[in-house]
Amino acid sequence: MVKKEIDEITGTETTGHEWDGLKELNTPLPRWWLWTFYASIVWAVFYWVMMPSWPLINDYARGIRGHSQRAIVMQEVAALQDLRGETGQALTDASLQDIQSTPNLLEFAMANGKAAFGDNCAPCHGSGGGGAIGYPNLNDDDWLWGGTLDDIHQTLLYGIRTDNDDARIGDMPAFGRDEILDADQVRDVASYVASLSGLETDPAADLANGETVYVDNCAVCHGDDGKGMAEVGAPNLADNIWLYGGDLNAIVHRIQIGGGGVMPAWVDRLDPVTLKSLAVYVHSLGGGE
Ligand code: HEC
Ligand code: HEC
Repeated sequence: MVKKEIDEITGTETTGHEWDGLKELNTPLPRWWLWTFYASIVWAVFYWVMMPSWPLINDYARGIRGHSQRAIVMQEVAALQDLRGETGQALTDASLQDIQSTPNLLEFAMANGKAAFGDNCAPCHGSGGGGAIGYPNLNDDDWLWGGTLDDIHQTLLYGIRTDNDDARIGDMPAFGRDEILDADQVRDVASYVASLSGLETDPAADLANGETVYVDNCAVCHGDDGKGMAEVGAPNLADNIWLYGGDLNAIVHRIQIGGGGVMPAWVDRLDPVTLKSLAVYVHSLGGGE
């Protein structure tokens, strides 16, 4: 028997082990700690037996419960697909107007449309549909090609100035570049157009001549009153909402180069339900027509 020895400084018993005069104090682990430790060993063994645990050569120990996270996910996916299937079928059959007036279809279409918008449309139209120079704002009730559900659906399906046979088409002539108008006429009509929205005009411009040039060259597409024409995608020039920027320079530039923006056709890229959902979603954004 090793004789019990009490350390003078701490008053604690030593274990009797000593190295070069250093003595080991005997401070046992607290009870609560030990019991927690033993309990966790018992729990670990229990867990190995019940749950998937050890890797084996070709497989793994699956545990008595046969629990599988993968199986749970598969079940959830299957349940979601059932749900989608039903609503998807209902959406396929319903007209755009029906979707809008049926609360549960509308809710599904809005969620679906919003997600698809983020994936496909936001790069050009902005994440909230706010647009940018050359990319129309879809949040206002100003529509180039018409803002009814069917107009929007049609625009989405076949695009604008694409190769598709049903695409929306109509370019503005390059009045300046192709010398349809001379420099004075361009200046005058640009200022006349600017004046329709109350923008600053060129002091040298003859607005009366501008109006004449407008009536002769522009009214056929933009309308006598400048309110635009959705059939040819000609914007309203009198509402101070601008696709290409609201100042005299931007207007002069557009009259010089004409042309028109291109929006892709989606009919071959997105499924019919998604396209309907998008039409309903976009219509809701802008206060459609
Ligand atoms: C590659 C860029 C691009 C992408 C992507 C794109 N658009 Fe467009 N979109 C345009 C441009 C440019 C126009 C305007 C064309 C013009 O000048 O007439 C336009 C016009 C529209 C219009 C007509 C607006 C009006 O005032 O009549 C709608 C509606 C529209 N886009 C919706 C969408 C939706 C929904 C998506 C996603 C499925 C989408 N766009 C994706 C570029 C894009
Ligand atoms: C053949 C039809 C056509 C004629 C004629 C025409 N335009 Fe346009 N104009 C358009 C179209 C289409 C657009 C939209 C282009 C686009 O979407 O990219 C446009 C766009 C514009 C814009 C840009 C509007 C904006 O919101 O930024 C201005 C400005 C404009 N036209 C002025 C004129 C003037 C001035 C004339 C006459 C000298 C004229 N246009 C004649 C079809 C026409």
